[in-house]
Amino acid sequence: MNRRHFALGALSALSASRVMGANERVRMGLIGSGGRGREDWGTFLKEPDFEPVAVCDVYAPFLAKGIAMTNDRAKPFTDFRRLLEQKDIDAVIVGTPDHWHALMTVAACEAGKDVYCEKPLSLTVTDGRKMLDVARKHNRVVQTGSQQRSGSHYAAAVKLIQDGGIGEVHRIQCGYQRNIFPGLKATEMANGKMTGFDYEMWLGPAPKRPFDPFRCIYNFRWFWDYSGGQMTNWGAHHLDIARWITGAPAASTVAGFGGRYALTDGGETPDVQQVTYQFPKVVVTWTVSEVAEGAKGVTLDVYGTKGSMTLTRGGFQVTPEKVGAGKEKTPAMEALSMKGNDLNAAHARNFLDCVKSRKRPNADVEEGHRSAVMCHLGNISTRLGRSITWDAAKEQAVGDAEANAMLTRPYRGPWKLA
Ligand SMILES: NC(=O)c1ccc[n+]([C@@H]2O[C@H](COP(=O)([O-])OP(=O)(O)OC[C@H]3O[C@@H](n4cnc5c(N)ncnc54)[C@H](O)[C@@H]3O)[C@@H](O)[C@H]2O)c1
Repeated sequence: MNRRHFALGALSALSASRVMGANERVRMGLIGSGGRGREDWGTFLKEPDFEPVAVCDVYAPFLAKGIAMTNDRAKPFTDFRRLLEQKDIDAVIVGTPDHWHALMTVAACEAGKDVYCEKPLSLTVTDGRKMLDVARKHNRVVQTGSQQRSGSHYAAAVKLIQDGGIGEVHRIQCGYQRNIFPGLKATEMANGKMTGFDYEMWLGPAPKRPFDPFRCIYNFRWFWDYSGGQMTNWGAHHLDIARWITGAPAASTVAGFGGRYALTDGGETPDVQQVTYQFPKVVVTWTVSEVAEGAKGVTLDVYGTKGSMTLTRGGFQVTPEKVGAGKEKTPAMEALSMKGNDLNAAHARNFLDCVKSRKRPNADVEEGHRSAVMCHLGNISTRLGRSITWDAAKEQAVGDAEANAMLTRPYRGPWKLA
């Protein structure tokens, strides 16, 4: 990494910290023009005060797609450091795999850019802490790509629950269950050839491995070097909402179970996983199944003494509890429901508004960090086969050196987190 270059970037940053006028355009770059990056790009492109300036990717076909979406208005880059040097960029989207999130977010903050970083915010607990510290140090707006945080029905649900609207809540159950048995296949470069692909720059700080297309585009999720499986993929969404409902920064105890039992596609992360989190007077459970969908696929259920709420991206429904004895049982509350809004549009809008006003965004980096910690601890407990007592203030496992060693990962040189 060229540190001198980042120091120069930091100078240009100062101008971007001012409050912008309502009609001013926010000039943005996209780093990682893959599946989600392009989805984000398309969402931002619909906003009237958005200006697409640059796209960076290390896979030529995806770079071309990101540029084409702007009618060739945006400049192409293959090295994100060059993109971050551009003085006409106010903010970037980080849509790369998880192992790049910290390095790119920190570099962008140091170069004076605001950041919309996809979820899960981090690959490790220490990376997330660094992202939070650097964002605060440089007074940057950093939005985590947890779009539910901008959902009007999610905000209404959290308020209803926290106001006691469904009674006392002591249990939240969430999960992601589907059947992909016996496994997935490479979605790109399936012929094993790296056509238009800079593999070294894709790997970056991750360990050197022989090229295998299945480890790269999209399926990086199932390898520990780059991500954390369904736990950090969908778990980052659902556990973020569960933690939001509890109002607590972290669980005090985490116990995870499971493994990769049935899938034979070469991935590493669990295909069956169950994690239990102890929050103050609330037990949160997270269930993953990649090998059987069962009756309910994606779930987030909040159990209250007066009613139970089912929350999805489409809306929420509250089913009243029946209370009383025998035939005399009556509903403890009215049935309630609410439809959802366009989460992606609302989340992008919130980011642009915050870039202009310098306010904290809905899924501020601190929330993203804390929810990613929840996912990382679930995986660490599962991999160690024992529960973890978590000291949230110190961000350390109590009396467990092995667990604490897993809160961080070495960066492969020359990459290092500043
Ligand atoms: N918020 C959501 O609902 C949501 C949905 C899907 C994915 N995501 C997140 O988005 C991220 C990307 O996932 P995806 O499914 O789009 O993966 P993907 O593999 O389709 O896209 C990642 C892109 O990043 C590029 N890339 C890798 N290293 C790079 C580098 N050094 N410089 C520039 N580009 C680089 C890859 O070439 C690829 O085009 C993940 O963190 C994932 O969790 C979020």
